[in-house]
Amino acid sequence: MFNKICIIGIGLIGGSIARAAREQGLCDHIVAFGRASGLKNLQAAKALGVVDEFYVDIEPAVKDADCIIICTPVGVSEVIFEQLKPFWNKQAIYTDAGSTKSSVVNAAMAVFGNVPDNFVPAHPIAGAETSGVDASRADLYINKRLIITPLESTSDIAVDKISEFWRKIGSVVSVMDVDHHDAVLAATSHLPHILAYSLVDLLGQKDEQREIFKYAAGGFKDFTRVASSDPTMWLDICMANKKEIIPLIQQLKTELGKVEQMLVNNKSQQLFQTFTYAKQARQRFLNQFDNPMSQSITFNVQPGGSLRGEIRVPGDKSMSHRSIMLGSLAEGVTHVKGFLNAEDALATLAAFRAMGVEIEGPVNGEVTIHGVGKHGLKEPKEPLYLGNSGTSMRLLSGLLAGQSFNTVLTGDNSLSSRPMKRVTTPLATMGAKIETEADGTAPIRITGTDQLTSIDYVMPMASAQVKSCMLLAGMYAGGETTVVEPAPTRDHTERMLNGFGYPVQRDGAKASIASEGKLTAADIDVPSDISSAAFFLVGASIATDSDVTLNHVGMNPTRTGVIDILRLMGANIEVLNERSVGGEPVADLRVRSSQLKGIDIPEALVPLAIDEFPVLFVAAACADGQTVLTGAKELRVKECDRIQVMADGLQTLGVDAKATEDGMIIQGKTEDSIGGGVVDSHDDHRIAMSFSIAGLRATAPITIQDCENVNTSFPEFRQLATQLGLDLK
Ligand code: S3P
Repeated sequence: MFNKICIIGIGLIGGSIARAAREQGLCDHIVAFGRASGLKNLQAAKALGVVDEFYVDIEPAVKDADCIIICTPVGVSEVIFEQLKPFWNKQAIYTDAGSTKSSVVNAAMAVFGNVPDNFVPAHPIAGAETSGVDASRADLYINKRLIITPLESTSDIAVDKISEFWRKIGSVVSVMDVDHHDAVLAATSHLPHILAYSLVDLLGQKDEQREIFKYAAGGFKDFTRVASSDPTMWLDICMANKKEIIPLIQQLKTELGKVEQMLVNNKSQQLFQTFTYAKQARQRFLNQFDNPMSQSITFNVQPGGSLRGEIRVPGDKSMSHRSIMLGSLAEGVTHVKGFLNAEDALATLAAFRAMGVEIEGPVNGEVTIHGVGKHGLKEPKEPLYLGNSGTSMRLLSGLLAGQSFNTVLTGDNSLSSRPMKRVTTPLATMGAKIETEADGTAPIRITGTDQLTSIDYVMPMASAQVKSCMLLAGMYAGGETTVVEPAPTRDHTERMLNGFGYPVQRDGAKASIASEGKLTAADIDVPSDISSAAFFLVGASIATDSDVTLNHVGMNPTRTGVIDILRLMGANIEVLNERSVGGEPVADLRVRSSQLKGIDIPEALVPLAIDEFPVLFVAAACADGQTVLTGAKELRVKECDRIQVMADGLQTLGVDAKATEDGMIIQGKTEDSIGGGVVDSHDDHRIAMSFSIAGLRATAPITIQDCENVNTSFPEFRQLATQLGLDLK
């Protein structure tokens, strides 16, 4: 990749980069530059074979180098840039490994007046409490994250090359902006170091009087491991990032204060909840940690098998979002059961916490929301990051348009490419001050106003998100806001608003809401998500000798299109124990194998099964004859273009699937229905899970790339699917 790499500062970090680059054959020649006072270390680097040469003069060190990597403590970045400046080579690529990024970028600005476009700021999230080149290892970065924080001016070619370099070393490369990097690292790395140093400082002094270390055990050792890190380096990091660290210290003090009060007031239940929440949150972290390549989880499904057993899939995603939103705006304390503990719903929860709402949990699916009332939200200190969640972004746009404060809504790559004009255009008509990027995508910037006026809006597409957005905005608009939908879509917003005592009138296709009204806290029991159950409805239908019962599934009539479609195809689905829970119909579903047949899917059912088409396409591939879907153009703007991506993936697996402008035509086969192969989820959880289910009727293994997104809606998918009998690794 490179002819000559020059490492500036050859300690644990620089030495490990050099060793890994050499082992992977990424350059012909590696040299080190260091201070004369560090001669011993430089000599050791050469003696150990980590570098070919070393220099204490910068000029020969960087001469002819096409890659220069700065691995010094961040506090000396400016000095290093000064030294590099006279010999700066526009053809070379410069990068660094500093733990804080704004300090490094500011140092470059101070020296050059701007940040050179061939400098790529980067940070490998790996290290050890040992230091020096002797401790360096070629495998230090394998399966570890590497964050690149390019500026707008940074050359794409340089970014691509540095990304490729780190990938070849074994790292998982992420890209984020400088400020986000520093905020994230302050919370997850810098604060824990400060905490460990402070605790050992406190106890060390106590130890001098009372010998307490003698009795400390493994917990103390684990907790304080990072206090053995290099003090010079950590001094530098903490000083460089204090802007982010100080507010976190304040928050930690508040948290400790809360725990103190729980102890003082004998609030054992609250303390238990706090500990349980923390234990579960840590487990989430460990799950990711066990999968350090969580940016690229791959599912491997062995062909065939049956599904048998009884399970309960996690809580409904749409209702979980709405429970947080309405519970936050209610007066009083709302208790939620069955909450979906998955990334999308947690994004909504985090957004409301950031707007000052006290929310406890989720602990075993239970969430307690201390509502702040309709006008009680506070301006968040930072943009609200909503991950992959379209529902969070579109509903929040409406809810926040009429607040008195400003907000910015951001999301991941997939969410940032989805159309947002469908909400911002009608909101602007109501008087909202709301902007998207020029192409109509996020970030969405909202300038608060109390001047919203009601409108009558005839929606151009059947979208529950747009309808809900308008109704939530209508709570803050003078007059009565009405929304007319071209076809029935899920009505959880209307039902839940009524459940909270806020009147929404329904008249056929029209829903109306006025600004007079308040929400009163209510208890919410979230049933299982029929969209998650759908994978097993299809799986047990297409796999031989299957018999699955799915308990406590939400059966809201605006969501049950998947059952209607599967029954039209000849599926054997029994609806048992129908009951009503908290205003929503619920039932247990028993599904057994059956030979499906191809059908023309009635267009009226499309919005009622909108999220289930990826897995319904799999059903169609195993059905006898042709299945035709029309009137489903909306599928092209979901988490990915679900028509194209499913058609491509099914074709890869040998299925005769043809994408049309607004749907799909699939020629199903009753034998050898689906072949094996490698497909990609394209950032879409439902695509990943649908192709996993396809394995049940495949003739060879199916590999599905890019499956980490399953965590957005159904983190337990693999565990439950394997429990029922799918061979998924
Ligand atoms: C949802 C509405 C639907 C659906 C999404 C959740 C909701 O989106 O696809 O998964 O909770 O309101 P559209 O409104 O874009 O159809």
